[in-house]
Amino acid sequence: MKAVIPAAGLGTRFLPITKAQPKEMLPVYDRPAIQYVVEEVVQSGIDDILIITGKNKRAIEDHFDRSLELEISLRNREKEEYLRKIERISSVDIHFIRQKEQKGLGDAIYCARKYVGGEPFAVLLGDTITVAERPCTRQMMDIFFEVEAPVIAVEEVPMEKVGSYGVISYREDEKGLFLIEDLVEKPEPGEAPSNYAIIGRYLLTPDVFDFIEKTRPGKGGEIQLTDALRLLNRSRQIYGFKFEGRRYDIGNMMDWLKSTVELALADDAVREELSAFLRDVV
Ligand code: UTP
Repeated sequence: MKAVIPAAGLGTRFLPITKAQPKEMLPVYDRPAIQYVVEEVVQSGIDDILIITGKNKRAIEDHFDRSLELEISLRNREKEEYLRKIERISSVDIHFIRQKEQKGLGDAIYCARKYVGGEPFAVLLGDTITVAERPCTRQMMDIFFEVEAPVIAVEEVPMEKVGSYGVISYREDEKGLFLIEDLVEKPEPGEAPSNYAIIGRYLLTPDVFDFIEKTRPGKGGEIQLTDALRLLNRSRQIYGFKFEGRRYDIGNMMDWLKSTVELALADDAVREELSAFLRDVV
């Protein structure tokens, strides 16, 4: 299976930080956000990855490229620990394609159609990190192999926050899977069909491209993936599943801060000192 990671968005909510650098390269504890996303793909058993980039996103390509000069310099200075860290990053085979104009997530995914060919594929938003015992993409793949239909990960969010997400209406089957009835992108207050939000992990079938083609600009004037999935759902059942774990949208300041704290606290090397510091500050 292949994985597609859209990372071409403008990151407006993170200006001025994103004026000259991609939001997907924001550090989350000890590595850039998009590295966690690539690691989730690899830990799920996928080794063929396409990252959709755009203007001002060169840093992403450089991050996953080999840097021979740096490797030689680290080797000469016997900095083996750092050498291993950077070798690990560049050992994954990653392809890149540019979304020429930021016309929305649906349009970004459409850029992957030739790369994907006729096979099912995973989509992971480049600005969303998940923390889970079993990687979110793996959880999704296992369900996909069972139902052989598109699967999207959802999470319960407070009702006052549903306007920031794609939201589903559903019926639950006997196994606890959601049979999606409809999908709405960023509903107005009072119009949300539930408080189950789409978190940015999808397992899609290639027929989705036909529906993206038919999708007109929606919320924010963008070609929304949610709108294309709404059309797809009329021709075949899409499944939703409650992802087990935590999810952070690092394109939102509070989530970015929380993800840094959680991932740092998970590291034995800093946990004690950071906990004491946080207690002190608070
Ligand atoms: P967002 O809507 O969160 O990203 O897209 P954005 O447009 O970068 O952010 P704001 O609203 O301006 O602050 C979710 C994901 O989809 C990608 C983004 O890079 C992000 O990973 N995306 C979005 C694209 O690849 N292309 C687009 O045209 C839009």
